[in-house]
Amino acid sequence: MAGQARNLKPELSFAEEVRSGLTKAGQKELPSKYLYDDVGSALFEAITHLPEYGLTRAEQRLLQRHRDEIRQAAGCPAVVTELGSGDGRKARTILESLRVCGRLTYYPIDVSAAALIRCNRELLGLGALTVVGLEGPFLEGLARAAAEREPGRPMLVLFLGSTIGNFDRPAAVRFLKSIRGLLAPGDALLLGTDLQKPAERLLAAYDDPAGVTAAFNLNLLARINRELGGDFDLRQFAHEARFCEAEQRIEMHLRSRRLQTVTVREARITVTLREGETIWTEACHKFSLRELPELAAKTNFHPEEIWVDEDWPFALNLWLAK
Ligand code: AVJ
Repeated sequence: MAGQARNLKPELSFAEEVRSGLTKAGQKELPSKYLYDDVGSALFEAITHLPEYGLTRAEQRLLQRHRDEIRQAAGCPAVVTELGSGDGRKARTILESLRVCGRLTYYPIDVSAAALIRCNRELLGLGALTVVGLEGPFLEGLARAAAEREPGRPMLVLFLGSTIGNFDRPAAVRFLKSIRGLLAPGDALLLGTDLQKPAERLLAAYDDPAGVTAAFNLNLLARINRELGGDFDLRQFAHEARFCEAEQRIEMHLRSRRLQTVTVREARITVTLREGETIWTEACHKFSLRELPELAAKTNFHPEEIWVDEDWPFALNLWLAK
């Protein structure tokens, strides 16, 4: 069933977050969730096709290969909620496999309305499926889905693509605890986590020679210009991917090519950037196989199953709410 996405209220506005991120005393930063407007979502989709970026294909292989084991381990759920559905492509394999369980309701949650429209279209052909799009923050969406569920059969939460890697480790623990708090015992979480791999391989994936990731990163400034009346000159910024060994993460930055001043009207700010100063736009943490069951235990989940892709080290984790 196709329907209009329901809109959920964000905690802070885009203008407020731009204001606080760019007026910080130390490292300037912008939240990575704002990378995904319509242009950014399309550029990210292009990234997933790059030969250097193996993450999405690795996860897709695991979902295909283990779809029936996932269904069984999750206890034939009646409700699937996805945090960051995009166009629903990641979920499709699982939703197809779940058809044998009977009627299914799928709640895709995403910050991009355009992605949710594509999601409806993508899943139109699947029978016995109700799609209820939720536009807004993940936890608000999950709370809504949890409030509407019929008791009896379990819910499966999909949190794929290693989006969990955008949080630093303490924030990931807090976020997973919040998810757990909205679940009932026996509910399942299918969590995609990119694994640690050599720095060169990661740097090639996050700074591809065709410049798609650079465009994805720079589009954040273009979005601020479009939506908040900013006057960023994109040509005066360079995309930079860094590998931080200690944190095992890739960081994406935008480096100012010269001393410059930028005004963002709707955030009511004028900021100066030094030559070489950066705005930090995203963190992509990479996990070790050792830390994943510990992360489950810390957040009150039981780590039921883990499947690993060998070509591009990536883990798909099936956890059960204790
Ligand atoms: C969608 C957050 C998982 O971290 O690999 C891809 C985003 N950024 N290339 C990732 C991303 C640059 C991606 N996630």
